[in-house]
Amino acid sequence: MAGPDRAAPAVLVIGSANIDISVSVDRLPAPGETVLGGDRRDRWGGKGANQALAALRAGARVRFVSATGDDSTGATYRRRLLSEGLQRRGLFTVPGPTGTALIIVDKAGRNQIAVSPGANARLTPRLMGQDKGVLDFGDAVLAQLEIPVASVMAAFRSARRRGAVTILNPAPAPGPLSPELIELADVIVPNETEAVALVGGATPRSEAGFLRICRALVKKGAGSVVITAGAKGALLHAEGESAWVRPPGGLRVVDTTGAGDVFSGALAASLAEGAALKRAVRFAVAAGALSVRKKGAQEGIPGGRAIREALRRTSWEPVKRG
Ligand code: RIB
Repeated sequence: MAGPDRAAPAVLVIGSANIDISVSVDRLPAPGETVLGGDRRDRWGGKGANQALAALRAGARVRFVSATGDDSTGATYRRRLLSEGLQRRGLFTVPGPTGTALIIVDKAGRNQIAVSPGANARLTPRLMGQDKGVLDFGDAVLAQLEIPVASVMAAFRSARRRGAVTILNPAPAPGPLSPELIELADVIVPNETEAVALVGGATPRSEAGFLRICRALVKKGAGSVVITAGAKGALLHAEGESAWVRPPGGLRVVDTTGAGDVFSGALAASLAEGAALKRAVRFAVAAGALSVRKKGAQEGIPGGRAIREALRRTSWEPVKRG
């Protein structure tokens, strides 16, 4: 695939690259239970790589700062990322195995995931120091939490110095985030489960409860919060405004693995282009909705034209202040 043109918005994604070992099952196992499934399928994944490819296909130039192992999986993955159009700069090779995710997907497209970080855990500020200036790229900088948090902070600090937008997808949610990380994030994008983990307490039963979580994060210094909520769309809470963005209807769900990553990558591409948050969230909702039509985290990543067409079928529902 040819890379996007040089005038395209620039996004830096820092994060994980995994080989996803997945099995389809009728239903997800309960703790302690074994279920039989279909044949094992190995696919490319990792939240960072999924987000980088989503931003790229949405139309951005992308530098993906990541670490893969010196095993054959790592070598093949790096070749794939380059052939897709990502920059060579930022792709570090470290001793040891490439990250691995074990994924189970049920008939409704829902999943359970366990990750062995492998090389991702070695993407430290010290490693990145081997290539001075590697983080100084992008009108938007996007990170998740499958790599050391010190590296995420380093990328966000570089973004702040350059005036770039910072977007944090706090996945997997580590529990409450450090105050400094929250303050460094212009936009925080958790799913509903992650949103609850960030502030602690019980899962809210209503929209009002989720808005309280958004307000708590903004009070701690986050610029705005977008909670992704699967088929319901996304709940946006920004200065003075809260609203739902609803996805286009009529899309068949095959596999939701990586849908949140596609959302985050598309959001970053749109914000890097200079779109207002409201428009960028509509773009991201459309991208995430399109991505669930295929199995695997990367197979369903849509291109910019498909996203813009689907965007017209998203809707905007302001939330009345309670
Ligand atoms: O969000 C989906 C991703 O989570 C998978 O690709 C897997 O590698 C884990 O990182």
